[in-house]
Order: sequence, then structure tokens, then C-alpha cells
Amino acid sequence: MSQVFNNFSLKEFNTFNIEAIAKYFAAPQSIDELIFLLQEKEFLKVPKLIIGSGSNLLFTKDIEALVIHPEIKGIELIEENQEHVIVKVAAGEVWDNFVEWSVRKGYSGIENLSFIPGRVGAAPVQNIGAYGVELKDVLYKVDALSIEQLELTSFTNQECAFAYRNSIFKNKLRGKYIIAHVYFKLSKKHNFKLNYGNLKNELQKIGQINLQTVRDTVINIRRSKLPEPEELPNAGSFFKNPVISDETFKQLITEFPSLVYYPADNSMYKLAAGWLIDYCGLKGYRKDKVGVHKNQALVLINYGGASGKDILNLAEHVRKTVFNTFGIKLEFEVNVL
Ligand code: EPU
Repeated sequence: MSQVFNNFSLKEFNTFNIEAIAKYFAAPQSIDELIFLLQEKEFLKVPKLIIGSGSNLLFTKDIEALVIHPEIKGIELIEENQEHVIVKVAAGEVWDNFVEWSVRKGYSGIENLSFIPGRVGAAPVQNIGAYGVELKDVLYKVDALSIEQLELTSFTNQECAFAYRNSIFKNKLRGKYIIAHVYFKLSKKHNFKLNYGNLKNELQKIGQINLQTVRDTVINIRRSKLPEPEELPNAGSFFKNPVISDETFKQLITEFPSLVYYPADNSMYKLAAGWLIDYCGLKGYRKDKVGVHKNQALVLINYGGASGKDILNLAEHVRKTVFNTFGIKLEFEVNVL
């Protein structure tokens, strides 16, 4: 049975590096340990919070719950044919270690998702995405443990109800399941997706296009724009890119011809929230211990010693400024607790 800690500091378990105390904390290393923990009488009525590496979380208060940090490990090839492989990956694996593994093995599908912080178990919850690829494009199924019934259930790709930075685990089933394993369908034939932003241009500078050079290029682009949490604590994009109707879009583009946008499903438009914030002059804005990153306005930074409320106040200030300028309400991508 995994050890349970009382009044445990979560400072090292969130990339904003915010101090928050968990009433209880445990890091089970297997499904059996996890089930054992959830069966403990002492914790039956205690709320549960599952965290991976806390790279998409903002703590604004102490956590009156049993915080579970799954440390279940393992990457296993479970099926193979001439074109595809199915790989089973445990929730506690570090996401980018898995990407590195797949690139080394010559399996394609997730190389554009290189260097995204976090654990494999958290990836389906918010359908991580970057450079024209989303997790939903390669996810085969998810095995998750129901916290109440302690039963393992499989969810197909469709049952996960994926959308932009969204899934059933963030909505209807929020707090009800713990993701145990994620299965990926990766390809042995390489079909690179290079149309996002400057990916193709940057790659052409290297010359060769293969899994490793795509991974290296994505890592270089990310490093140049996004601050490393070890140096400047942050949680990646704090806001989602807003999706708006055709009608709103037409009004906005007339008033703001340099608006950055992408066509989205159902004749909607997705706007670059970074551009909206930047336009309001907030890129590089700093207030005491918190600020908006100087290279990517979607990212908020803890310059040291900030509280979760300081970050939240900054986020509200950004949201209000963008609303007053464009009439658009930004949604948080980060989970605020
Ligand atoms: N832009 C600005 N100013 C800024 C930031 C962006 O003008 O401060 C403009 C850029 O010039 C570009 C456009 O906005 O024309 C889009 O910028 P970028 O390609 O950097 O992507 P993004 O829309 O800002 C999204 C994801 C990132 C992901 C990148 C690359 C969201 C909320 N964010 O950012 O994901 O890495 O695309 O695919 O969808 C994350 O989720 O934590 C994250 C970092």
C-alpha cells in the first residue's frame, strides 16, 4: 500500500510553483495500490483530486482532499501489423518520455506533440494539442478506474467526446474516474503534418525530414516561445483560443483587419487569444510577483513567491481588458482550484 502523507506541500507538484497544502497525499505505483487506497475506510468520504505533474493547474487555496498522484509506469507494445502499432502506456509516464520513445522506435503520430509538459494520464483529459495535431488523432482507447465502483472501464476514442482542449473527463465524468492506461495507435508509415505556422520553414533549414528532425524542430520552436517552468514557473497557455461565430468574426475583422484567426468546424472561427492579449498591450505586462510572458501572451508567469490568487487576479485583468477591447470573453485553459 502506498504511503499517505498528511498536510503535504504541493509546491513541487504544480508548475506554477504555488504553495498549497493537501490534507492527504499519496502516489500509488500500481492499479492494485490505487484500489487499496480508495478502499481505505478513512478516505471513503474524503473528496479525491487526481494530479499528474500539475502543469495545467492553478491552486488558489489549500486542498481539503486526498490528492492522488499516480506513479504507475510502463510502455508496452500490444499489437502490431505492417502499418500500425498499438501501444499501451501507463498514466504515470512522463508524456515527453513517451514521445521520445515512439520517435526512437520509428512510430509516427505524436512527434508534433514533443516537449509538452505533463503525464500521459492527463493528456486525454484536456486533449493536448500542438502544431496541428491533437491527442484525439492518435488515441485508440483509455482504461480508467471509477472512483466509486473501483471498476476498470474502457473508453473508445469516440466515447471520450474529444473537442478542442476538452473531453468527457473534464465535463460529465469530471472527478469520477482515474485514468490508468492510455492506448495509442501509431503509424509505421510516416505521414508528417507540417502545415502549422513556421514548422515547415524551420524544418527546411535542417534539410532532412524525419521523425527525429520534426521532434527537434518542434522542441526548438517551443523553447524559443514558451518559458521553461523550471526557470519561470507557468502552466503553458492560460487561456483557450476562443471560437466565435461567422457573424461575430465578420464584425471583428472589419474593425481589426490584422486579427489572427483559423477557420474552425461548423463555419466558426478560432482566434489566436495570444494575439488579442498582445494587441491590448499586455504582452510583457508585470504586476508585482506575476506577469504576462514577453514572448507568448497566452502564458502567465509566477516571478517568485506569488499566490494562486495573484495569478488569478492577473488572469481576470487580462480577461477584462480583452473583453473591453473586443467584446470576447476568454476562457481559462488552466484548471483553477
Ligand atoms: N500571437 C501573437 N502574440 C502572442 C502570441 C501569439 O501575436 O503573444 C500570434 C502569433 O503570431 C500567431 C498566433 O498568435 O500568429 C498563434 O500563436 P502560436 O502559434 O504561438 O499558437 P497559440 O495559438 O498561441 C496554441 C496552443 C499552444 C500550442 C501552440 C502551437 C492553445 C490555447 N494554445 O497556442 O498550446 O503549443 O498553439 O500549436 O491552444 C498549451 O496548451 O499550454 C499550449 C502551449
